[in-house]
Amino acid sequence: MPRSSTKDRELRMQRITCQVAVGGYRIAERVGSIKGVADRTIRLNGKKVSAPYRSVGAGAAENSEQLLYWLRERHDQHGPRFGCGVSQCGACTVLLDGAATRSCTRQVHTVPDMAEVLTLDGLRGHPLQRAFVTLQAGQCAFCVNGMVMGALGWLSQRVAAGNRTVPADEEIKDFLSGALPESDDNYICRCGAHTRIVAAISAAAKEMLR
Ligand code: FES
Ligand code: FES
Repeated sequence: MPRSSTKDRELRMQRITCQVAVGGYRIAERVGSIKGVADRTIRLNGKKVSAPYRSVGAGAAENSEQLLYWLRERHDQHGPRFGCGVSQCGACTVLLDGAATRSCTRQVHTVPDMAEVLTLDGLRGHPLQRAFVTLQAGQCAFCVNGMVMGALGWLSQRVAAGNRTVPADEEIKDFLSGALPESDDNYICRCGAHTRIVAAISAAAKEMLR
């Protein structure tokens, strides 16, 4: 049996850590020890919104519901999706203060008050959306939220770092597979539509960066 690499081991540990956190919250939810807490206020797609979130424990031991559920159930956001639930596929990606964030494992109590949260629901005819539609970059489209929001976070991060070049296909593939030096987050398409996804990100980048 091949020995697992350091990255495989790190991914396994990350998955176990996520499962323990989510599992702890779910058990508490079942035994009824979840308490209501004060509202969390954020700026969601440019608009100030507040809603309560459920949590258990306090201080460093606090666990709360995941940002993904809070956005979908309390704020009617349909863009972020539940894919793997353990930070491995990207389907739940939102931008939190400009950074691509996996909302399936991000607990609401760790989101700062008045944080800027951008979801796919808040994009209106963005070049990335148009390119995905024009090039039919998907089959079932379940992964598209992650592809669009992840690419938006990544391209914005590149621009903020002074890089306005259009990424080559190889760089886009590295982004999707989590092989960039600045990010090991990968984005999975279970339908295998990666060729058209790369083409869509490339086409959008040409429009965004010209
Ligand atoms: S659902 Fe969040 S990364 Fe897969
Ligand atoms: S198009 Fe189906 S998961 Fe990507």
